[in-house]
Amino acid sequence: MATEGASWKEEGRPMRVLRMVTSNDGKAREFAEALKGMPFRLERVHGAYEEVQADTLDEVAMMSAQDLLAAGDIPRPFFLEDAGLFVDALRGFPGVYSAYVYRTVGWQGVLRLLQGATDRGARFESRIALVTTWGEVELFAGTGLGTIATEAKGEGGFGFDPIFVARGEARTYAEMPLREKERVSHRGAAVMALKARLLAKRPL
Ligand code: IMP
Repeated sequence: MATEGASWKEEGRPMRVLRMVTSNDGKAREFAEALKGMPFRLERVHGAYEEVQADTLDEVAMMSAQDLLAAGDIPRPFFLEDAGLFVDALRGFPGVYSAYVYRTVGWQGVLRLLQGATDRGARFESRIALVTTWGEVELFAGTGLGTIATEAKGEGGFGFDPIFVARGEARTYAEMPLREKERVSHRGAAVMALKARLLAKRPL
């Protein structure tokens, strides 16, 4: 399990380290940007954890965090995130199966499933599981409402970004700069809740 340098600047005294566990470079970039300026040194751990399969993102995030906690390899505190794309016309599919669907048929497969569909409503969900120094797991949720575009657009982002258009936006996530995606996205909303917790006067 490799770790990677900090993106937060030191200010005189050593900062506490907060580790994020992810094998996804796109997510790592978004978290690094969103957590800039926080009084922690963010360190990435290229997480080799089994993605558990469960019925809800809450369970996936919670069980993944508990598995990592039980393995005991990662110094606490740390966090991981589980996300999913829920398409209305597909009754919420791919949802908790998003990673598998992306790996097998990609965003092209989702576009194909929606060919001719007039209801293009969808949402992204994010669950961040924070594991405290004491081994407690706290969950933070974020939702990003939007639609599935009729064709892919944009070069940025990752995953399903080229086909997802946030509510009130004309561009896909893949056409938006990091900071703008954060303002409207599931991850941005979940990170906002995480930040409030990190700054709270409660032991971490
Ligand atoms: P994960 O299980 O949290 O890694 O995410 C499930 C699937 O959704 C993966 O294939 C990701 O690439 C994709 N995904 C997660 N977050 C986003 C996002 O912000 N934009 C586009 N795709 C995403």
